Amino acid sequence: MCGIFGYIGTRSALPVLVEGLRRLEYRGYDSTGVAIHDGDQISVHKTVGKVQNLQSVLPSEVPGTMGIAHTRWATHGGVTFVNTHPHASHDGKIHLVHNGIIENFRSLHRRVKAHGIECVGETDSEVLVHLMGIELAGGATPQEAVERTLHLARGTWGLSILFLDHDVLICARNGSPLIIGQGDGEMFVSSDPHPLSAHTQRVVYMEDGDLAILTRDSMKMVTHKGHSIDPTVTVLEDSWSESDLGDSPHFMHKEIYEQPEALRHCIAGRVDREMGSGRLGGMRLGHSTMVQAPHVRLLGCGTANFAAEIGQMLIEKMARIPAVTHISSEFRNNDPVINPKAIYLAVSQSGETADTISAVKEIKLKGGQVFGVVNVVGSTIARLCGQGVYIHSGPEQSVASTKAFTNMVAALTIFATQLGRTRHLSKAKGREIIEHLQQAPHLMESYFENPGPIDEAVALLAEAKSVLFLGRGLSAPVAKEGALKLMELAYIPCLAYPAGEMKHGPIALLEEGSPVVIVAPNDHLKEKTLSALHECRARGAKIILIHEEGDTIASEGDVSIAVPRIHPWLTPLLTVVPLQLIAYSTALHLGKDVDRPRNLAKSVTVE
Ligand code: F6R
Repeated sequence: MCGIFGYIGTRSALPVLVEGLRRLEYRGYDSTGVAIHDGDQISVHKTVGKVQNLQSVLPSEVPGTMGIAHTRWATHGGVTFVNTHPHASHDGKIHLVHNGIIENFRSLHRRVKAHGIECVGETDSEVLVHLMGIELAGGATPQEAVERTLHLARGTWGLSILFLDHDVLICARNGSPLIIGQGDGEMFVSSDPHPLSAHTQRVVYMEDGDLAILTRDSMKMVTHKGHSIDPTVTVLEDSWSESDLGDSPHFMHKEIYEQPEALRHCIAGRVDREMGSGRLGGMRLGHSTMVQAPHVRLLGCGTANFAAEIGQMLIEKMARIPAVTHISSEFRNNDPVINPKAIYLAVSQSGETADTISAVKEIKLKGGQVFGVVNVVGSTIARLCGQGVYIHSGPEQSVASTKAFTNMVAALTIFATQLGRTRHLSKAKGREIIEHLQQAPHLMESYFENPGPIDEAVALLAEAKSVLFLGRGLSAPVAKEGALKLMELAYIPCLAYPAGEMKHGPIALLEEGSPVVIVAPNDHLKEKTLSALHECRARGAKIILIHEEGDTIASEGDVSIAVPRIHPWLTPLLTVVPLQLIAYSTALHLGKDVDRPRNLAKSVTVE
């Protein structure tokens, strides 16, 4: 949510910043801006809209080898030019970009006003730059000006700050991610690791409270208490460099079709076929923890939450212990009871979702052991948990999550077999699951060879007032995921229900021609799901049916889409794929921006 990119070096800063912004745009695209220091002055260029809009207002050349850039997802203050970052101090000597929320900005605003300074916009960020300006004008050094201002501020920030009279870039982190990239004679700062991979593999993940003072060839880091720290340099994973669009028309298209390969990465080396068990080294799960755990709790938001719901069901099936999924944003506020013996799993693609971070902190505070199920290596959740499993999807750049969902499900399946084998799961059953899981990438590929009548489904959905998605058991979260995808991309109101609940309310929505998407793989619940299908049809609904190949129920759908057969416990890995394609194609048909749906952002770093 909001992307920050900064550069100090010897190259022309503008192209480096614009490229950085382009790669960060998925974090927010309400407005964008850059500030570039040429040694004498700082020039600012900004615009409402996407990076593309910024490029159209930029002069062909802007001199300067140091600068900051921002792509905004609006929180405080509307989507307007004046609210667009970078913001400048009253005397123009400091320029700043901010990601996060300053909770006490009203009282800070009064303080700024008391100095006779008027804010030009409505953002919470602007007060920070004025306070720094006041400190600097009073004789503070840039570092002191930043430290004293942040001492007054409450809330979250990732900050990158330029000073007119100083050859330095200062960055600060508290709750909003910032990563420093170390080049030769140049330094970078970014909200996400992948824009850095084009320039350097050597990165430093800033921690909450850290301040970094960057020059072209040095990096000084201090904690919020002013203690110097030795930054830990980490080498970026190779996969971060694979984040270009290539020949694909959209990132979402690319990422849907990358799923078989991503799945292979997730599974490789993590299963013991002989023992019929998972082998998740990073979980560092002692035998006694697994045997004694009274229950498992899973947490996540949106798509991650639906993957967690599937994980929950698989854990109960395989390990026969209670498992419950929580929506992260609700968890902390409900003063949860934490059992130190239980296993908590925080599921997140970005590893930066503020709601999930808060939940992790709450669990840790109360003595619980929490494991990350995360994609982005080195992200906040991964580091906070310090143990867990990386899902290894590779960079996911489309705002709508696809390959992270299937890899979360795969990682949780492996976890369920590992936990299950310490309890009730037999070796034979464990082997059976693992063998089927290993076949899943291949089965996905064979589905892509014949994806079925997606266009016919689009024709039914594109003009719909609303769409109902139904599924039972493991297919209920798949239905929710399909509804979320279509809603967020095509802006069609979608409702997802466990099929059995349909008759308790949502059926009232159905009228002649209402589209209903039904996920009905060949499991023990299929017949019951079919009853819901008949109830819908009796009210004139048009059915889009996702079923398994060779199943005679194909004739029950107005549009029927077959996926390859797989073990009944693994069907979500396949049934979700046509739903992703349906959402993608419907959005395209309606002329929507599939990779950058309105009002959304990839990493939701505010609560
Ligand atoms: C939907 C989507 C969101 C995310 C949610 C959690 O397509 O992408 O619902 O799943 O914001 O994000 P992560 O997984 O990064 O915690």
